[in-house]
Amino acid sequence: MSDQQTQLKQQAAERAVEFVQSGMVVGLGTGSTAIFATRRIGQLLADGQLKDIIGIATSRRTDEEARKLGIPLLPDDLPQPVDVTIDGADEIDPDFHLIKGGGGALLREKIVAQASSRFVVVADESKLSDKLGTNFRLPVEVLEFAWRSQLQFLESLGAKAEVRQNADGSRFLTDSGNLILDCDFGPIADPLELAASLGSRAGIVEHGLFLYMATDVIIAGQDGIRHLTGK
Ligand code: 5RP
Repeated sequence: MSDQQTQLKQQAAERAVEFVQSGMVVGLGTGSTAIFATRRIGQLLADGQLKDIIGIATSRRTDEEARKLGIPLLPDDLPQPVDVTIDGADEIDPDFHLIKGGGGALLREKIVAQASSRFVVVADESKLSDKLGTNFRLPVEVLEFAWRSQLQFLESLGAKAEVRQNADGSRFLTDSGNLILDCDFGPIADPLELAASLGSRAGIVEHGLFLYMATDVIIAGQDGIRHLTGK
């Protein structure tokens, strides 16, 4: 990742933190963009510009970072609604539909996003795409039990699918102990139809299509920062 892209990610994430007000419950996203929002919230809490924030982390990685920053966290049973969640995305289409899960945190990310009044997606402009699936494979989280049957099912839907691996060649396991199948569908003609097929298959725990969920998209690019809101 270039320094410039990192700067754009930081700009988008920090702009989104302007939506956070004292007293809010805030969903803390996962990834190299969302982490800048978590750090900024930690900073604003430390210098007293924000007070009484409670975070809910979308992954163990984010949980660890938030603890280091001194952000108070909700327990995992998510007992109250979330005011605003700030998270990244791998691909964003013109209807604000998303592919997420590049970091493998899609399950918790979707749970937290669905519990949020406002779901703010932050990204640099490279994430914009006319059709989901053009630039990024769709992550599908599956139970380890009988996972090969999910692989065959995904292939029957037209995907080239492979099990995500760690750098050392071992299988990547999500925070919930499941596998990720990265699925190359090419540009996805009908994300709603695909989401319905994936959602009705036993053994598929969750998929990375986040449809009709983003309320705001903050995009940082060469020409500045754009705040796009739902249609
Ligand atoms: C993690 C995600 C991330 O939000 C997504 O992969 C974007 O990551 P980054 O900000 O590092 O580009 O969905 O599961």
